[in-house]
Amino acid sequence: MPGVLLGDVFPNFEAETTIGRIKFHDFLGDSWGILFSHPRDFTPVCTTELACAAGITGEFKKRGVKMIALSIDSVEDHTNWSKDVMAFNGETGTPLPFPIIADDKRSLSVQLGMLDPDEIDKDGMPLTARCVFVIGPDKKLKLSILYPATTGRNFDELLRVIDSLQLTAQKKVATPVNWKPGDKVMVIPSLSEAEATALFPNGVTCKELPSGKKYMRFTQP
Ligand code: BEZ
Repeated sequence: MPGVLLGDVFPNFEAETTIGRIKFHDFLGDSWGILFSHPRDFTPVCTTELACAAGITGEFKKRGVKMIALSIDSVEDHTNWSKDVMAFNGETGTPLPFPIIADDKRSLSVQLGMLDPDEIDKDGMPLTARCVFVIGPDKKLKLSILYPATTGRNFDELLRVIDSLQLTAQKKVATPVNWKPGDKVMVIPSLSEAEATALFPNGVTCKELPSGKKYMRFTQP
């Protein structure tokens, strides 16, 4: 089955993009990366997504995350459509602040499992779904999300998961439901009480539960 699983080294593919030919690992360097695909250029939901992504590039930069988009259209289409995207943002004349991969042969989309069999173009060929891959500095896949063409993504959520991924890569914690930066986090279950006390100088509070089991351990990271 095509696709990349969590923990896999992300393929070091070569591709044509709006900034020329790239080798993906060289493009990433030592940074985190986010690769997000969209079904087609010159389509409304995709335009809102890329415009939103362009508007918050500073947020990705702050987190050390390099951005790259992908669809099955050509570099020429990407370049022309980018002008619409930036105009939609009210920034006519400003270049799109991240490259777009031109996967017009669909080879990368097949390799990464990104095609949506329910979204067909006029020639009967499948379009790319709305995939998101977050890749760590070790080039391994940390997160993947797959949305259909008809549902646009939430880029605030993408920033939130990146905050969680980066925090949990550094500390032995996990982020609970609806967590946002600054909230308390959970101590991971594999840590003993002694280890947790030593690791979290801000203290660990444990919620009493009917089972008597002490697994709901909160701390301020
Ligand atoms: C859109 O981006 O608006 C879109 C693209 C393909 C199918 C449905 C919607």
